[in-house]
Amino acid sequence: MENTIKSIIDKYEGDKGFLVPVLQDVQKELNYLPREALDLVSSILEVPISYIFEVATFYKAFSLDPRGRIQMQLCKGTACHVRGVPLIIDHVERELNIKEGETTENLEYTFETVNCLGACALGPIMVVNGEYHGQMNIAKTSRLLKKLAKESEKSEEGKS
Ligand code: FES
Repeated sequence: MENTIKSIIDKYEGDKGFLVPVLQDVQKELNYLPREALDLVSSILEVPISYIFEVATFYKAFSLDPRGRIQMQLCKGTACHVRGVPLIIDHVERELNIKEGETTENLEYTFETVNCLGACALGPIMVVNGEYHGQMNIAKTSRLLKKLAKESEKSEEGKS
């Protein structure tokens, strides 16, 4: 982890004014901001850990808890809600064996619900690692989860 953090900080020439982009890059790399990574950022940039925590907790985009490699956000806004979102939530929770807002133990999936994503006409909307999937229903969600599981398997095989 140390080398990853060092190379991110080097990219910003060790300038503590770039703390937010540094944290963004760390999160992109590790999917969340582990304590160990924040300690390294603190010592290399010579910024107090208390200030780093303040920044990391201020921005909603940062997470101090482990997050999955695959991040799923389902819109729970009114327009999506009335088109069957509660059923989709139940389905995803059952398939992944986690509750809304949780991450699977193997750190593969994080499933969250969010407020209106501004694309109501296409609702229900599911965003997977930034990619929008519109007009979701249980059948489409099932297919999407199967596809993601297959991709996961492939990437696991690639590692071994
Ligand atoms: S309510 Fe879901 S995109 Fe607006």
